[in-house]
Amino acid sequence: MDIMSAVQDACVSGQWLTAIILSLCCFLPSCLPAGQTVDYASTENVVSRQGDTALLRCYLLDGISKGAWLNRSSIIFAGNDKWSVDPRVSIVSNLGDKHEYSLQIQKVDVTDEGLYTCSIQSERNPRPKLIQLIVKVPPKIYDISSDVTVNEGGNISLFCLASGKPEPTITWKHISPSSKHTWTGENMNITAITRDAAGEYECGAGNDIASPDTRTVKVVVNYPPHIQEMKSHGVRPGLPALLRCEASAIPYPSFEWYKGEKRLSRKPGIEIKNLSSRSVLTVSNITEDHYGNYTCVATNRLGTANASVSLTLIIEPTTTSSTVSSPAPNTAPYGSTGGGEVLLACPFLLLALSSLLYIY
Ligand SMILES: *[C@@H]1O[C@H](CO)[C@@H](O)[C@H](O)[C@H]1NC(C)=O
Ligand SMILES: *[C@@H]1O[C@H](CO)[C@@H](O)[C@H](O)[C@H]1NC(C)=O
Ligand SMILES: *[C@@H]1O[C@H](CO)[C@@H](O)[C@H](O)[C@H]1NC(C)=O
Ligand SMILES: *[C@@H]1O[C@H](CO)[C@@H](O)[C@H](O)[C@H]1NC(C)=O
Ligand SMILES: *[C@@H]1O[C@H](CO)[C@@H](O)[C@H](O)[C@H]1NC(C)=O
Ligand SMILES: *[C@@H]1O[C@H](CO)[C@@H](O)[C@H](O)[C@H]1NC(C)=O
Ligand SMILES: *[C@@H]1O[C@H](CO)[C@@H](O)[C@H](O)[C@H]1NC(C)=O
Repeated sequence: MDIMSAVQDACVSGQWLTAIILSLCCFLPSCLPAGQTVDYASTENVVSRQGDTALLRCYLLDGISKGAWLNRSSIIFAGNDKWSVDPRVSIVSNLGDKHEYSLQIQKVDVTDEGLYTCSIQSERNPRPKLIQLIVKVPPKIYDISSDVTVNEGGNISLFCLASGKPEPTITWKHISPSSKHTWTGENMNITAITRDAAGEYECGAGNDIASPDTRTVKVVVNYPPHIQEMKSHGVRPGLPALLRCEASAIPYPSFEWYKGEKRLSRKPGIEIKNLSSRSVLTVSNITEDHYGNYTCVATNRLGTANASVSLTLIIEPTTTSSTVSSPAPNTAPYGSTGGGEVLLACPFLLLALSSLLYIY
């Protein structure tokens, strides 16, 4: 028996449900009679985000026509009879529009993706409405490198793995005011790393459905000490003197102080204060015995560096207050020797300067 005449027979005998099912059959490629095709060009796309409620719209022609919904080849609804056991699906027939026969799917998931058919059974020429449901998934980073510590000159390889639909694009960026560099891809490799490349790296995974998911990895670059500054301040008999040694190193260095060959340690009148990257030696009451050559040695497990400054007595020809603010502290580069000055000038200003420098 020809399928169209079967449908007609069913309609005539009032078996509309059978008629619908038989008609639906015509739109499934598996049971299409030879030579007939489904017009897929008229397929409507509905995009929904995973977890959201999807609404597939369909309208009946009038009060007497009947509808049915199919998910691929299985019937979900025939008229208002629910065939599907899935509690998430329901028919929406709105108050405003009695002819609405839309399918609502709650908590939509990727497994729901596919072709849905709303079939309308009426007096003549039943046409199905084909809807392709597309389910998109927001990006999510599910694995990323842990924080790394590397010696300067070494190589690092970071990875960042993310899921999502469409497949997220992965980008890396160095969170640094001086760096605008970005990388694309799951792997981010740096060879012969420099100290400037230390800091936080942000992985961003993005697709068109939601804002990117981001996570960061911290990169620590170790390097040996380098003495950036070695200064003396306020060297005058009877007043406190400060020697400040500034070293750059990761990990932070430990400091030692020498006067000539002799290691200095804390004792009454001599104080050593270490901060992360600096050490300050304070001699509370300068006497002539204190003049000489002072060396600061900064050490971490990658190396050591030293710098020296010598305290000598300079007697200025005149002692006006204007000469006091001018003496620039002496600076010695790495491994070299600088000269300090003993200034005979306004003690109050020197004292103020000393305390200021001590703080910083
Ligand atoms: C549609 O069919 C697929 C495959 O059988 C199934 O996994 C999914 O749950 C169905 N979705 C709905 C809303 O019926
Ligand atoms: C770093 O990478 C370069 C180039 O790939 C290689 O020649 C070198 O041996 C690597 N260094 C280390 C410490 O692995
Ligand atoms: C980065 O390094 C990893 C492992 O060392 C390697 O598998 C990957 O191919 C490298 N990627 C690039 C872009 O060089
Ligand atoms: C500063 O560092 C030196 C050498 O590491 C150490 O002997 C001294 O106790 C430290 N001083 C302070 C105040 O931490
Ligand atoms: C500084 O040392 C001198 C000589 O040792 C001493 O006379 C003076 O009282 C000391 N001053 C202070 C403030 O300790
Ligand atoms: C100070 O001491 C350092 C280390 O002992 C030495 O290299 C330098 O030549 C000395 N400088 C002076 C001016 O004596
Ligand atoms: C200071 O550094 C030089 C090399 O730069 C080294 O020869 C010297 O022994 C060091 N001095 C100290 C006290 O560590």
